[in-house]
Order: sequence, then structure tokens, then C-alpha cells
Amino acid sequence: MANDHPGCNGTEKGKEEELNLDLIKSGLRSSLFGVNIVYHTALGSTNDLAKDLALRGAPEGTVVVTEEQTAGKGRRGRSWLAPSKTNLLFSILLRPALSPNRVFSLTMALALAALEAIEGETGLLCMIKWPNDLYVGSRKLAGILTEFAGKDRQVDWVVLGLGLNVNWCPEEGKGGSRFSATSIFAETQEKFARNGLLVQILKQFESHHERLLSGGGDDLYRKWNEYSLVLGKEVVIESEERRISGKAVRIDENGALILEDERGRVHVITHGDVSLRLFSPLS
Ligand code: BTN
Repeated sequence: MANDHPGCNGTEKGKEEELNLDLIKSGLRSSLFGVNIVYHTALGSTNDLAKDLALRGAPEGTVVVTEEQTAGKGRRGRSWLAPSKTNLLFSILLRPALSPNRVFSLTMALALAALEAIEGETGLLCMIKWPNDLYVGSRKLAGILTEFAGKDRQVDWVVLGLGLNVNWCPEEGKGGSRFSATSIFAETQEKFARNGLLVQILKQFESHHERLLSGGGDDLYRKWNEYSLVLGKEVVIESEERRISGKAVRIDENGALILEDERGRVHVITHGDVSLRLFSPLS
């Protein structure tokens, strides 16, 4: 397959290192996410293990991280493939006092946190493609898989799993999803230390998470709209039950997409099991 990523054709710069639990823990010394980090060199899926731990009473803030997944999962029953020791693959367990309809504001907060940490650590600017992806131009850089369970109309646990293509070269074949993929390396021609990037994503997310839960999420809400790739564009939303097309107007405080169809009717699309396609290709 032809490869048009400049990074994969250029000379490699930068630093590549294995994940190091001590380094990650010391970067998160005063963080909720530094208290219970579960690290395995390889496992099935970080989301599956985090869910398992949630059911066995693991505390809020548990992070599961690995170098390799043998059964990595994407949304809508897809798989998530990533070569070993190259990308970031982790899941966060939360037990927020939220009603289920607000869970996807956490997905947006994580997308925003990752976007900001990537820009801060590497200088690469990406955009959020609702409902759960980060894109650079027309290529997918990262995806989030959000799973949760409720009890008595309250959320019991939420697992947010992030797969971020860091030092992987898309030319290498496997990786990401069936969508045209990219990586930080492919975009910047530099390899980056994943330990530092993971720490920054988690720190940034912790601050967003605190703000969301304390009712101070206005700034986040403004930012996830500012960095949204789809607003003002004609889109098609598809799920098992329905297909709606219209213009993406905004993403609301709960992480739902507000869409206006050609008859002027307004639809509130919650994440659920939907996919979003743009009418015209991204550029
Ligand atoms: C998507 O774009 O469909 C979401 C992809 C989410 C992939 C991550 S990798 C870490 C975590 N564990 C999984 O099995 N999936 C998520």
C-alpha cells in the first residue's frame, strides 16, 4: 500500500521508550490516577480488565495500561489493533455521581484532555470528531471506547478506554481501525516518550473531570465545540434503528450532538451505538 505520511519517509528523530510503571507513578504522585495503576505487558483488552476490576470493587481512578492487547475493542463491535510497545492503550475506571445521560460528557472531556496533552507534548494539533475520535486532517489518530453500568438511575461505574497512535508508522500494516489512520510519528516525523504523554493526558483529564463534576464545565463545553471537526457540516448519523441526516449544530453539555435536519427539526443524538459520516470528505 502506498504511504503518503511524511513522517514514515523521513529520518526518525526523538525518543522511544518502553512504558515504565515507576516513571508513570512518579508523574502522577498527587493524582487520583496515580493511586491504583494496573500494568501488564500484554492482555486481552484494557477495557475488559477495567470492567472486571470495577465489578470486583476496584476504586475510582484505577488505570489499566498495557503495551499490547490481544483482543482490543473498538466501538460498534469492531476490533482495535495496535502493534506492541508503540502506541498508548489504556482505560480509566470512574464511579461518578452522574445520571447515565451525562456519561458521554466524560468521553468529550477525555478527548479534549488528550488533544491538549498531545499539543502540549508534541506540538501536533488535532480535532475531535464526535462521538469519540481524534483526527488530524482526514486521518484518525485516536479513538475512545466508553462503557458503563448504572444502578438506580445513577452511574455505578464508567470505563473510558483510549487508543492513541503514537510511535507507530501506519505503513506497518496493522493498527488503529478500518479508517484511514495516522500517528503522532507519521505527522511530526518524531518519536515521543509515551510515559510522559500518558501522564499529561491523565493530569489534564483529572482537572477536566473535577470541573465537570463540580458543575464548572462551561469552559470545557466551549472548548469541545471549538475543537470539533463536524460542526456546521452536513452529516449522516446511523445506528441499528435509524438514519438521520442534517447539519451538525453543536455538542451539548452532556456530550450529545445537536443536529438540524432539512425540515428544521432539531435532534439530540446521544452517543449510544451510532456512527457519524460526513457528506463531503474531510480535508
Ligand atoms: C474506536 O475508535 O472505535 C474506539 C477505540 C478504543 C480503543 C481503546 S485501546 C484501549 C481500550 N481497550 C480496548 O479494548 N479498547 C480501548
